[in-house]
Amino acid sequence: MSHLASGRYNPRMPPSLTDTLLDWYGNHARDLPWRRTGDPYAIWVAEVMLQQTRVETVLPYYRKWMARFPDPKALAEASSDELMSAWEGLGYYRRAHNMHLAAEKILREHAGQFPQNPEDLRNLPGVGKYTAAAVGAIAFGADVVALDGNLRRVLARLMDLDLDPRSVEGEARLLGYATSLLPEGRASAFNQALMDLGATICLPRRPACDACPIAGFCRAKAAGAQMDRPVRGARAGLPSVRRVCGVLPRQRSVLIGRRPLGGLLGGLWEFPGGDTADNEDLEVALRRQVLGQLGVRVEDALPLGVYRHSYTHFQVTAHAFICAWDGSEPTAFEHTDLRWADVDQLAANPMGKIDRTIARDLKERAEAG
Ligand code: ADE
Repeated sequence: MSHLASGRYNPRMPPSLTDTLLDWYGNHARDLPWRRTGDPYAIWVAEVMLQQTRVETVLPYYRKWMARFPDPKALAEASSDELMSAWEGLGYYRRAHNMHLAAEKILREHAGQFPQNPEDLRNLPGVGKYTAAAVGAIAFGADVVALDGNLRRVLARLMDLDLDPRSVEGEARLLGYATSLLPEGRASAFNQALMDLGATICLPRRPACDACPIAGFCRAKAAGAQMDRPVRGARAGLPSVRRVCGVLPRQRSVLIGRRPLGGLLGGLWEFPGGDTADNEDLEVALRRQVLGQLGVRVEDALPLGVYRHSYTHFQVTAHAFICAWDGSEPTAFEHTDLRWADVDQLAANPMGKIDRTIARDLKERAEAG
């Protein structure tokens, strides 16, 4: 496209929304490590980490990850425990497991080279519509829009969309609008400019319209409707799950089990336990779960604490107990592995949020004598 056709240097034509946005990005882009590289592997790692997770949280994880697993080969050859430890705290652990599978596939089927073809990209484990579009646009310059939460909000305001942006029709309208703005060959800057605008100016609760370079193009602002966009879909309160966890001590060690790969918190270590039935007595549930998972009988249970955590689709309240048991040797009926871990060494075993908090409490108790 010529400069005249783009309107950028034509004094008779006011600059377009896209030109104004790209100019702003040229001057204000956040300096982020994955923007200093064209390596598609590095960009993919960032995009996977950034799903559901804020940039500030991701930064230290990203740096460590790239130092330890600088390419698909290093990632494919790492142990599952190493990966889970590097990921611990980022949440949504299936992402790390899928990245491992993807790296293995890249070695097996693409000679270790990150694939560029959109179909090959989509066929990597864990790579959905968003990730394929983001890596396509940012690493390979494909003319596509990567709709994440920030883009949905910014675009819904720009076009004053009166539909839930996650509904089928709402998403189609957003994509149609964004694609009409997309400057050929500049999808990397275009997408990341909208991401930055959403993360720093067009904020969910307090949009800083006075600082927005494209406020003059915003239909929601013109209508005074910024706060009503995006329209929110009806979201029910999160269902809650009540769990029991048993700490089985043996001298200075406690028993932990590894959760099966693939499920929730797959590959992470935990204290044995599980869900309680409706109105089930906590100790009854504890005995039932420990017997079913390990084949040992809890004889006495001392409450350790109550722990809460929210996942995307439910919240968990876990009641932890220190258990005296019949002394027989536990068997892994549901875990892929069991391990006696020294209370001081629990940090070396990757765990989810609740189990990590229990592990810290145990260490504190041991130190307090
Ligand atoms: N969020 C998701 N992808 C991003 C990127 N490339 N830069 C900044 N924030 C992001």
